[in-house]
Amino acid sequence: MQESVADNRWSIVKLLKGQYRFFSLRVKSMILRVIDWKNRSRQPLPVPPPMLRYRVHGRLKADGYLEIGKRCANDIKSLVRTTGKELFDFNRVLDFGCGNGRVIRNFYDKPESCQLYGTDIDKDSINWCRNHLPLAQWDVNDFMPPMKYADGSFDCVYAISVFTHLDEEMQFAWLKELNRVTKPGAILVLTIHGRSLFSQLNRAKRELLEEKGIYFDVFQTGAFKHDGLPDFYQTTYHTRNYINSRWSEYFEIIEYVEKGMNDHQDAVILKRR
Ligand SMILES: C[S@@+](CC[C@H](N)C(=O)[O-])C[C@H]1O[C@@H](n2cnc3c(N)ncnc32)[C@H](O)[C@@H]1O
Repeated sequence: MQESVADNRWSIVKLLKGQYRFFSLRVKSMILRVIDWKNRSRQPLPVPPPMLRYRVHGRLKADGYLEIGKRCANDIKSLVRTTGKELFDFNRVLDFGCGNGRVIRNFYDKPESCQLYGTDIDKDSINWCRNHLPLAQWDVNDFMPPMKYADGSFDCVYAISVFTHLDEEMQFAWLKELNRVTKPGAILVLTIHGRSLFSQLNRAKRELLEEKGIYFDVFQTGAFKHDGLPDFYQTTYHTRNYINSRWSEYFEIIEYVEKGMNDHQDAVILKRR
């Protein structure tokens, strides 16, 4: 009885803290909108509003959002280069889970021969991209496959910080779908939360991760979740052995680069057989 009273109190405290956080995010976001407006001429392309930035980046400010997007874009180019190709050599490149274009916006100088596509479950982000970033074709996909693209549509796909948020069932469904929409020989760059980030987990969770090779960490759901994304979107960790043994069922693994994306997430370079 005493325990359930304590539990109820704890839930109320958590809820109030959540509401306070939600409110303060909204206030800060309004202030930043004014700052963005003042700085609007400084960027070659428009910058999404603070709450959309928060959705993909976990922070509101524009500087960090733009800086990390640029670094990821450069890392994608370097990682693709290790396969003997340049990113812009490809004819059809898909940014899977593109969010509001934080990364793809840096490819505005691509040649005509390289067509860019961005897809995401997040309608708000895609609508913003459609209205502000005329450098790609934008699509909304469902949280489970299929996407609208025909078999073998792409010769390059990258997904930055997307498989870092899917449970194992969704991960396999999307690996299968990416296999379907890519051409034989296509190159993929996908990122994961690898070894350097395992310290974010407590000991018990880490043991489960080491045992199975994947750990899906459910943190905030329902009223406690403020990123505007669905509850299935949580945080996933992978071991390198798991990637080698399970992802190789879908693609040939060309390279595994620890902290290869923005010196943070591990990057896996794959080839469609
Ligand atoms: C951390 S954000 C990264 C966004 C973008 N790749 C970037 O680096 O800015 C993760 C993105 O994955 C998207 N996402 C999650 N599950 C997805 C799915 N099943 N299909 C497409 N996008 C998905 C989310 O909506 C979100 O925009």
